Amino acid sequence: MISANNVTLAYGKRVLFDEVNISFTKGNCYGVIGANGAGKSTFIKILSGEIEPNKGTVTISPGERLAMLRQDHFEFDQVSVLHTVMMGHKKMWDLMIEKDAIYLKEDFTEADGMKAGELEHDFGEMGGYTAESDAAQLLNELGVKEEMHQQLMNDIPANIKVRGITGAGLVWQPGYFITG
Ligand SMILES: Nc1ncnc2c1ncn2[C@@H]1O[C@H](COP(=O)(O)OP(=O)(O)OP(=O)(O)O)[C@@H](O)[C@H]1O
Ligand SMILES: [Mg+2]
Repeated sequence: MISANNVTLAYGKRVLFDEVNISFTKGNCYGVIGANGAGKSTFIKILSGEIEPNKGTVTISPGERLAMLRQDHFEFDQVSVLHTVMMGHKKMWDLMIEKDAIYLKEDFTEADGMKAGELEHDFGEMGGYTAESDAAQLLNELGVKEEMHQQLMNDIPANIKVRGITGAGLVWQPGYFITG
């Protein structure tokens, strides 16, 4: 469960949130609706910890994690559809890059081997070994066909991009994709 407790945030005189209390519970899918500039993205950033509220706290049950996909649809233009979804789990993605870089080292030392072992362990705990098939399944369920998964975001039709990727974003974003 994710809970916002008495969350308050103002930018100057503009009060976006005043003592907001809300809980997001397992098994539900939530949508945040509001006019442009109402504060939807800001609220998601508060939930993810990217922005600190002026007052109040956000709590996430132990063992659960939150992944966030940003609103900027052009950010991933040069990234494949499948990888875009996987990048929604930033910690896992960063770890994968870190460990792959170690294996590419020409002077691979014993210490590198130890470090790689640790990273492999953490990667496994995060569900890294099934992340690709999980992401593919997610896309299939959203109606984004297999043959599009390897295409660049820039090269897929806009309606699929919005349907599939925003949908995927929604799943990985406030949906706090639960592991373990
Ligand atoms: N760092 C900041 N400093 C000051 N004001 C900000 C900052 N970030 C956002 N705002 C303002 O806060 C308000 C909410 O912005 P936010 O991006 O959360 O809206 P939104 O509901 O996601 O809008 P949209 O529908 O356009 O995505 C806007 O008026 C915006 O200009
Ligand atoms: Mg927004």
